[in-house]
Amino acid sequence: MKGRILGIAGPTVSVDIPGLKLYDMVQVGKAGLTGEVVRLESGHAVVQVYEDTRGLAANEPALGMQLPLTVELGPGLLCGMFDGLQRPLERLRDRSGPLLTPGEPILPLDRARVWRFAPARRAGDQVRAGDFLGEVHEGAFRHPICAPCAGRIARLSTGDFCLGEGVGEMAGGREIPVIVRWPVRKARPYREKFSPTRPLVTGQRCIDFLFPLVLGGTAIFPGGFGTGKTILEQAIAKFAAVDIVVYVGCGERGNEMAELLEEFVTLSDPGSGRPLMQRTVVVVNTSNMPVAAREASIYTAVTMAEYYRDLGYHVLLLADSISRWAEALREISASLEEMPGEEGYPTYLTSRLAAFFERAGVVETLGGKTGSLSMILSVSPPGGDFTEPVTQACLRTAGAFFMLDTSLAHRRHFPAINWFQSYSLYRGDLVAHFEGEVSPRWGELQRRCQKLLQREETLREVAEIVGVEGLQDADRLVMTVSERIRERFLCQNAFSDDAFCAPQRTLALIAELVDFYDLAEGKLKQGALLEELLKP
Ligand SMILES: Nc1ncnc2c1ncn2[C@@H]1O[C@H](COP(=O)(O)OP(=O)(O)O)[C@@H](O)[C@H]1O
Ligand SMILES: [Mg+2]
Repeated sequence: MKGRILGIAGPTVSVDIPGLKLYDMVQVGKAGLTGEVVRLESGHAVVQVYEDTRGLAANEPALGMQLPLTVELGPGLLCGMFDGLQRPLERLRDRSGPLLTPGEPILPLDRARVWRFAPARRAGDQVRAGDFLGEVHEGAFRHPICAPCAGRIARLSTGDFCLGEGVGEMAGGREIPVIVRWPVRKARPYREKFSPTRPLVTGQRCIDFLFPLVLGGTAIFPGGFGTGKTILEQAIAKFAAVDIVVYVGCGERGNEMAELLEEFVTLSDPGSGRPLMQRTVVVVNTSNMPVAAREASIYTAVTMAEYYRDLGYHVLLLADSISRWAEALREISASLEEMPGEEGYPTYLTSRLAAFFERAGVVETLGGKTGSLSMILSVSPPGGDFTEPVTQACLRTAGAFFMLDTSLAHRRHFPAINWFQSYSLYRGDLVAHFEGEVSPRWGELQRRCQKLLQREETLREVAEIVGVEGLQDADRLVMTVSERIRERFLCQNAFSDDAFCAPQRTLALIAELVDFYDLAEGKLKQGALLEELLKP
């Protein structure tokens, strides 16, 4: 299906290709830039182009590709770094240098790459659709390959094979697929969704202890500039107890992504001890890359995440930051001259976000396994104002909310999670789990910890009037212990050995502080002096 460019407005281009469908991919211009149909009108269609449209001219050719934006799923995603359209950045760079040439076609998964396949069945075997045929060794990761249909296996390789040739064939000539294609805007199917029950241990004390997350849950942390969003996302990417991490750098600084990747290569997964990159897929659409592909990048990422969920793994999707995605959406909406909603964002911002969050969860896969997809997204509200539309839209759907507090960040209290404003809807359900797995004191200590912090807040107001000296010893004890809770327990330096803390150690630390409080309080009642008790 061929046509021409009729007009260009920022990232959108109108074309006269006949027979287009909504969300079809289109290549525009001599450079062959890719885009997606976002509006159909009589006689022309509007295409949102994923690359810089400078240099395009009217009357240049346009080509309908007759399929929506689709990703490739299969061996070779792990350790990989892709852009928002799933183009492999390293292979692109090897070919065209550090400055990407727009429009160059390149397949996401390298067909020339050789993998090892360990078959579980043989040629001649009769199998049902979905039966397990063997696995591809992808580092330590085992990538299952299943039968595409019922029938007899005609050919099944063993040992090394190259991705281009596949692992075998069914009788009748149907290929046994190693690569699956999926349109990114369509959630992948599953049999059933369950309510999440198992914790997602992040290794961050403040989160795991006060505002715990579940496998299959969703969380957001909004925070102004410099409140530690990127550092927190990255710390969770390194240490979270999940099988697979998909990290999306969405519209943030490019050098931060470069540093992250350099660091990841040297680290190992605390759970398995294997190189961290072997469980990680990175999608990058930094602020210096075209804005429209950013809108697509979170869908590309979530589709890859769903793919691993469907293989029966626990997957975590991290995005930094979803606000940049929303800004891309706004920019595209504006160039379509749609009626703007609050602060210029399109009126469908909330429903789009809700539909995105909806892709998280614990599921029974079509193959009968259990897999989960969790999401932790950072939000960067302009000026740190949490009443703005993106934060509000996220708040409506996310299960946990960590408010990153500018004043805590100024005092170098990191992670700057405000312990009064944040919440997790999963907390009640998880207490029983932690009490069974870690310690029966988990719930009790959680309540005591929060109570001490609350009393400190009240006393601080009093102390501002009468001075700390004016407080009674019992109250000064509360102030001292709370300060220790904040500094020794809630603070966690991401650049030290303390960057990760297992739940057992989290509990031991808080137990020590609360037990000290109880002991000291008892002694004060018996007439001891506070100064004596606080001596190290
Ligand atoms: N957990 C942490 N431990 C130590 N320092 C931190 C931590 N979190 C943030 N910081 C400090 O705050 C700075 C800004 O953090 P960053 O994540 O880049 O903020 P944001 O992404 O919100 O703009 C970092 O460069 C670092 O010095
Ligand atoms: Mg940042």
